[in-house]
Amino acid sequence: MLTVALSKGRICAAATPLLARAGIELDDDPADSRRLCIATSLPDVRILVLRAQDVPTFVEHGAADLGITGKDVLLEHQGVGLYEPLDLGIARCRLVLAEPAQAGPARSRPRVATKYVETTRRFFAGKGMQAEIIHLYGSMEIAPAVGLADCIVDLVDTGVTLAANGLTVCEEIAAISARLVVNKAAMKLSHGRVSALVERIARAAAENGGGCR
Ligand code: ATP
Ligand code: PRP
Repeated sequence: MLTVALSKGRICAAATPLLARAGIELDDDPADSRRLCIATSLPDVRILVLRAQDVPTFVEHGAADLGITGKDVLLEHQGVGLYEPLDLGIARCRLVLAEPAQAGPARSRPRVATKYVETTRRFFAGKGMQAEIIHLYGSMEIAPAVGLADCIVDLVDTGVTLAANGLTVCEEIAAISARLVVNKAAMKLSHGRVSALVERIARAAAENGGGCR
């Protein structure tokens, strides 16, 4: 049996048709079902439906052989024990630094609201700066307006949320899309089955107009 850890929410919604194109139909719709382990049309492949941030942990510990999650999550997790063989080209967005459109003079130690604590720390360290990081779990865009932070690091897709909260992009930190990850031990021990599944998904991603290694 091969177990695939799938990030629920946006990535699941985009990945389910891609998996179907790869001949992997889920027996239940994760958006409706409360089942967290879903069988598929391939008798030896099952899907775990997980929080995005938990996908690397399941794959790293071998509780899943493969996983599908966002590059933002992988940058933050920085796990060992994972291969990242495939960019699926779905759930694309950008991780950015954003600040109020009418920002005052920059502080030497900016206060940054984000859920991407490690990625933000590394980003500022790369500029030779220290930032005071304020860890939030969502709705980051409101933090500058209420004086909680000077700027934010968050995902942007259409830009509607930033604009609605009077923020503007200062800098792109990373281009984000969903990635396929593989447990390193599974890649060695079940090489034939794992690489056949990776190939199947890679072909479907390429047909979908995205996907690269
Ligand atoms: P959680 O509640 O688990 O913290 P979430 O509700 O933000 O996460 P989703 O929005 O369903 O979860 O999925 C988040 C993932 O989807 C991100 O990690 C990112 O890789 C991808 N993604 C694609 N577009 C966007 C977007 N516009 N906003 C947020 N995430 C996006
Ligand atoms: C996500 C993200 C941004 C927004 C970006 O939030 O954190 O707030 O979408 O999309 P846009 O550029 O198209 O407006 P989400 O809806 O997941 O809510 P959250 O703040 O609870 O994470």
